[in-house]
Amino acid sequence: MTYPVTRLRRLRKTETIRNLVRENRLSGDDLVMPLFVRSGSNVKKAISSMPGNYQLSVDLLVEKCSELEKMGVQAVLLFGIPEEKDETGEIACQEDGIVQQAIRALKKEIPNLYLIADVCNCEYTTHGHCGTIIDGDVDNDVTLNTLSKQSLSLARAGVDMVAPSDMMDGRVKHIRQSLDREGYHGIPIMSYAAKYSSAFYGPFREAAESAPQFGNRATYQMDPANSREAMREIEMDITEGADIVMVKPALSYLDIITRVKQNINVPVAAYNVSGEFSMVKAAAQKGWIDEKRLVSELLTSMKRAGADIIISYHTQEIIKDL
Ligand code: PBG
Repeated sequence: MTYPVTRLRRLRKTETIRNLVRENRLSGDDLVMPLFVRSGSNVKKAISSMPGNYQLSVDLLVEKCSELEKMGVQAVLLFGIPEEKDETGEIACQEDGIVQQAIRALKKEIPNLYLIADVCNCEYTTHGHCGTIIDGDVDNDVTLNTLSKQSLSLARAGVDMVAPSDMMDGRVKHIRQSLDREGYHGIPIMSYAAKYSSAFYGPFREAAESAPQFGNRATYQMDPANSREAMREIEMDITEGADIVMVKPALSYLDIITRVKQNINVPVAAYNVSGEFSMVKAAAQKGWIDEKRLVSELLTSMKRAGADIIISYHTQEIIKDL
């Protein structure tokens, strides 16, 4: 049947009918807010490239999280900025590491807030790379040890989920085995499975003080030109025991999200990364776009593409309107 019998505008006539036929809806239940924690007390250091985001000391992080929880935010993703860095990231494996301290304090004050910890070495190494450098490049198999140790110490601190973002081969298996060996069978792994080597991470590297001091991350993160390789990464991580797989960044990779969703039966997360957030903020500050509508449209496009979970710095601002 075609025009004039078929008229698609019939179902767009009023807000009510549009509501009735809407295919995808954003929900606060799907959103995760990333947060940055650093040492000290009463510290709130603005991240200039990400307006509205701060590095917070543990006391202020707890305050922030109770505010978020009251607004309906159920889950946060934690990144740490340590006081000192070292060559391998061992510093992130200590019982009193900055994220471990944050987890203990948050679990005590806000036990129902779901805590996800990013697992990686780049915030903790002097050179800013995601693992141990041998012969001028990150050594895959040596790095697996620090990643597993970091995951274990986060588990001991009481984290609900770990999210390795390093892109080493075999890390999901290594981390799963280490967690299970100590009885942490119940802690899921959300792997940054298809993580691209992206210019969209620029603002985050200011936020987490994790910019590589030489070279780039192209020897471990994925080439933005590849899509079949993303499926190999995803399949490999699921085989190794990933409970949730992530595609990152989100916006330039909606095709990857859809491809993963259509071919794989585990939940799919999309990371609406720092550069995607900051571009929106910059345009809004110039008065060039309607920020609220744009954010809603962007996050809805991630849902439409197939994301079950969306990690976004817009979470706090948008959740009020959902
Ligand atoms: C750590 C990590 C990064 C991000 C999340 N975990 C940075 C990177 O890989 O350089 C990026 C997040 C963002 O841009 O919002 N490896």
